[in-house]
This record gives sequence, C-alpha cells and structure tokens, in this order.
Amino acid sequence: MLLLTFKGKIGKILNGVDKMIQKPKGTYDILGDSSDNILYLKKIIEALMDKYNYKYFKTPMFEASELFHRGVGETTDIVNKETYDFKDRGGRDMTLRPEGTAGIVRSFIENKLYVSSMPVKAWYFGSMFRYERPQAGRYREFMQFGVEAFGADDPIMDAEVISIMVNFFKILGLKGIKVNINSLGDKESRENYRKALLDYFKPYVKDLCEDCRNRYEKNPLRILDCKVDSNKDIMKNAPKLTDYLNENSKNHLEKVKTYLDSMNIDYIVNPSIVRGLDYYTHTVFEVEADIKGFGSQNVLGAGGRYDHLVENVGGPSVPGVGFAIGIERLMLALQAENIKLGEEKNIDLYAFGYNLNDKSYLMNIVNLLRMNGFNVEMDYLNRNIKNNFKKADKLKAKFIMIVGEEEMEKNIVTIKNNKTEEEFKMNKENIVEFLDSKLGGLDES
Ligand code: HAM
Repeated sequence: MLLLTFKGKIGKILNGVDKMIQKPKGTYDILGDSSDNILYLKKIIEALMDKYNYKYFKTPMFEASELFHRGVGETTDIVNKETYDFKDRGGRDMTLRPEGTAGIVRSFIENKLYVSSMPVKAWYFGSMFRYERPQAGRYREFMQFGVEAFGADDPIMDAEVISIMVNFFKILGLKGIKVNINSLGDKESRENYRKALLDYFKPYVKDLCEDCRNRYEKNPLRILDCKVDSNKDIMKNAPKLTDYLNENSKNHLEKVKTYLDSMNIDYIVNPSIVRGLDYYTHTVFEVEADIKGFGSQNVLGAGGRYDHLVENVGGPSVPGVGFAIGIERLMLALQAENIKLGEEKNIDLYAFGYNLNDKSYLMNIVNLLRMNGFNVEMDYLNRNIKNNFKKADKLKAKFIMIVGEEEMEKNIVTIKNNKTEEEFKMNKENIVEFLDSKLGGLDES
C-alpha cells in the first residue's frame, strides 16, 4: 500500500536520461490512496488528542548529536549504530532524529515548561530516521505518532498513556492487537538487578557477542535484549528483573494494572519486554499486531516511563511517560484486517466551458463556489463535451456546471444533477443557495 513505484512508465518518459534518480533505500513516496489514508489518520489523531487534552508539539527533524548520545543513552543500538549523523556546514555535529522523545524533552527543558502547571501533555507526528536494514515494516525514514506526558509520577499517567494507544487502535477498528506490559523498576531495583546480572554473566562474558561484551560494561540489562545471543541457555537462565523489584516498583506496576482493569483494557504482563532504549524506568509496554501472517516487524507501538530522562538531558527532576506508534506498521495492520480508512471523497461539482475563448466568467463562478465551501473540480484541458461528462463521472461529481456563450451573455449558469440528469438554469447570484439546498439532502433527490 505504501510502496508505490512507477519505474516502467517514468523510465520511458525519462528516456535519454542516463540513470533514473531513485528514492533512497528504505524510504517510500506517499501518494494517491496512501496520502488520503495518512491525512485521515492525522485527523483522527488530532480529534483524539483533543479529547485527552494533549497539545501538538513540532520539534526539529535534526538536533545536536549530543542530545541523542547523552540523553537517549550510549548503549542504545538506535543511537550506537542507526543514527544518521552529519556535520553541518558550520562544523556542528547533528543527527536526524531517530525517535521523538528526546526532542520533546529538549523542548520541554529549553522552553522551561517545567515552571508551568503540571502535567504537560504533548503529542507529535512526523518522520524519524534510522539506518536499519530495510524490510516490510522497517524503513530508514518512517513516521511516528507519539505522546509524552511530563510531571506526574502517579501510575494513573502510565495507564492513561497506554489507554490512548489501545483506544486509538480500537477507534480505527483494529482487532488483532496484544498489549504487553512489564516493569523495569525504579533506580534502586535496577541497581540491584544490575549487580545480579554482572555477577551472573561474569563467567560467560567471553561467550557473548561483541555488542553484549560492550553492554556488560555499560548496561548489562541490554544483554537480555540481544538478538544474536537470545537463544543461548545462559540468556534463558539469567536472573529475572521481576525478582529484584522493590516494594515501590511492585506497587507501581500493580496500580498500573488496576487502572488498566478499570478501563477494561486487556494486557499481559510479559517479563521479556525490556525495550531497546536506555531511558526507561518502571512501566514499559509494547502493542503487537496479533494478526495471522503479519510480518516479523509486528510491534505497532511502544513506550514507557522515563523518570530520569529530563534530568539526564540537563533539566530538573521531572518524571515522564509516553509512547510512539509506527504509522507504516499501523497501515500494514489495517490493510491486513481489510480496514478502509475514511469515506470516499466525492466532488460536489465539476465545471467546464463550452466553446469559450475567455474562461473568466467560468473561473469567477468556480472561485465563488470554492470560497463558499464546495469541492469543485474543473476542466483545464479543453476536453470535448463527451469527455467532460466522462471525467465528471470518474470523479463522482454530484453536479455538473456548463458555461457557454449563452450563459455568459445572460449572466446565468446551467447545472445538471449528475444522478437524476435534471437540468437547471439560474442566475449566477442564486447558484450558492441552490447548491446549498440540493447538497444538504442530495441522497433523497
Ligand atoms: P521505539 O520502540 O524505538 O520507541 O519505536 C516506536 C515504534 O516506532 C515501534 O514500535 C515501531 O512501530 C516504529 N518503528 C521503529 N523503528 C522503525 C522503523 N525502522 N521502520 C518503521 N517503523 C519503526 C520509541 O521510538 C520511543 N521514543 C517511544 C516512546 C515515547 N517512549 C516513551 N515515549
């Protein structure tokens, strides 16, 4: 649905040009039906965010590299291996954002939003960039819809954030989803667990992959997220974080569960969810597409709590929690469940001139109608009558307006109902009122 190419046709048109310039690997063009779908999704997101009182944030697509390296965490694969890093012409180290949270956190601090009344609830929609091996559902430029809520450490905020993602999928009619939640605990629990992992993996370090040997030094928790070593027995028998959660962390998780239950949201507690980003504390969650035959890239959206990220990026101690949904994966899931987005778009009126040298009169009316809120398409190619009617049918135009010499002289228009074929002649001044009355109850006409 999203990957549209026109190699054959355009190749021919460009005959003579040595090599056709193609889109970069791992990217795609949005056009046709896909663009309607994306715009429709955005409208739903806007309406949904209004209900929850989240405000739209737009941050730059590139930021100082330091933000991601220091803030998101050096042992995060996304930052370690997948970022698009470059020097700008002023010699500054810049990075195309691989995710949205860090930029929102930077903006929250830079704009001193922490002095305002908490919580600050933000949402965003836009492109992210990761240099990953492309495959279905995995791109180098992809879009995320995300939310971030700052200033509340109450588990009710975690539950709200999870409920937004689940309700969004529900509103879209997506049925095959599975919500996995887990807790990574607070600082103390994490520290105890870290020590346990260091002790446990010590005799096996030499058997681990190079990345994991590095993780052993910097962030042993991430060893458990390793794709290379995942099947080894040493991984399976490793200590479980759940056994190291202190009372505070256990209570937090229990409360999140209670609040999810109160909203009748189904979930499973899945201790293997550790997430690929370093900044999480307490709640983490992933929503998977549970659809037969869906590809391996089946995590539609994910998120969690990050109580120290704002501090790590240089702000005060303010907790946060959020998620991001991959728009392309969501579109693939909708497609897999045969869900069509939005209503079919119809044109209110198709206008064309008949034997006109000067189309000013036609243009004047078309402009008037568009300014009065009607969807109007017109003939730009001087088609003959037959082809104009064909075009109007193709566009599913409800009315057709024909302007010829006679109409111009008498200051009138001829309008045809494209369904009933009834024809009306009227003064130009009456056309808006006429269409208003007709389009209000077109189905009955
Ligand atoms: P993430 O798990 O890295 O989390 O990404 C969130 C979602 O973005 C994934 O579940 C997936 O749907 C989509 N995604 C990630 N990489 C790709 C890719 N290469 N191609 C297509 N889709 C992709 C974050 O980004 C966190 N910032 C989420 C968050 C917000 N945590 C707290 N607040």
